[in-house]
Amino acid sequence: MNKGILADASMLRGEPPLEYLRKANKLEAQGRDIVRFEIGQPDFDTPENIKDAAIKALKNGFTHYVPTDGIPELKEAIRDDIENTRGFRPDDNQILVLPGAKPGLYFSMLALVNQGDEIIYPDPGFFTYESQVGYAGCRKNPLPLYEDNQFGIDPEDINERINEKTKMMILNSPQNPTGGVLREKDIRAIAEMAQENDIYVLSDEIYSKMLYDGLEHHSPAYIDGCKERTIIVDGFSKAYAMTGWRLGYMIAPAEVIKEIELLVADALSCTNSFSQWGAVEALKNGETFVDMIMTEFDQRRKLVVEGLNKIPGMSCIYPTGAFYAFPNIKETGMKSKELADHLLDEAGVCLLPGSSFGCQGEGHLRISYACSQAEIKKGLARIQTAMEKLVQRS
Ligand SMILES: Cc1ncc(COP(=O)(O)O)c(C=O)c1O
Repeated sequence: MNKGILADASMLRGEPPLEYLRKANKLEAQGRDIVRFEIGQPDFDTPENIKDAAIKALKNGFTHYVPTDGIPELKEAIRDDIENTRGFRPDDNQILVLPGAKPGLYFSMLALVNQGDEIIYPDPGFFTYESQVGYAGCRKNPLPLYEDNQFGIDPEDINERINEKTKMMILNSPQNPTGGVLREKDIRAIAEMAQENDIYVLSDEIYSKMLYDGLEHHSPAYIDGCKERTIIVDGFSKAYAMTGWRLGYMIAPAEVIKEIELLVADALSCTNSFSQWGAVEALKNGETFVDMIMTEFDQRRKLVVEGLNKIPGMSCIYPTGAFYAFPNIKETGMKSKELADHLLDEAGVCLLPGSSFGCQGEGHLRISYACSQAEIKKGLARIQTAMEKLVQRS
């Protein structure tokens, strides 16, 4: 098969996260009890009021094409939310509703970066970035994040990586897979650098409502000067437990939205009509739900981190956002894939090797604590037993 641009898509070569998901499904089908720590989606059901809003729209015949950029009611609700959470009110022509955050990331690359140009993205980072950079025919420039720096970004590290080919950098805060959160002062320094070097900032803020310890979300888009080159990508999947609804949006300068809207019109026509009414309800009346799940996630976070730090060979810093822990396993001397395979086969715990998220993720595992506290306790107990046996053997 002539793969064309697909030839460069790294995820076609191995696709480790899916490999674990499939293997865990297979083991469950064979009757094994598997603790699922690999899935990056909240285990909560979408709130009833959100479902009801979409059902009502569907029943009322809201079943036709809608404007490519989104229904006016949702765009207005997004404007209000951005004003509350990012400190500026985007114009109506700066918003594009999309079927998820992922298309916002990919379409931004397609519209704004030429083939052969370079994109900087975090390593470890959401594996989709590397794939999409490959699909878009762009050069990969992974930016290492360090545990010593709580997986934040040192602006100097970005500075060192910028060259004449660099046209875009991807930021992600709170971050998948580490749960790290960027500091405001670092975002300011990065924003300045983006301006000086005429680089787009693609800011993946899908976990913006998922912060702990009273932290506030900061976006490069609220910094004057950077606003003109920042694309915010956010959505409903995580904070409102709506992964299957496929709903997201982007906020960008009007001329960028205009370009990407053409792409969306040709590729998708529009985003699902009636589900957009669910999103309106989420933004207007979803705050109590977000608070509720964040209280629960916070308890799980503490359970996971305290549990991991008692296990031989593992240590874990506290994530400050999202719902992922990224324990360090370097003391075991094992590769992360080797240990993840061992824990799935021997202990019935499915989690992801840190190496799935980039070279810099080696020496770590990713645990998604989007499952009940009972499952978390069971999974940790199984990991502890398996690790004690490994230590005894060595
Ligand atoms: C960092 C990050 N961005 C984007 C997405 C995808 O979001 P959506 O479901 O809205 O496409 C995910 C999902 O795991 C993610 O972790």
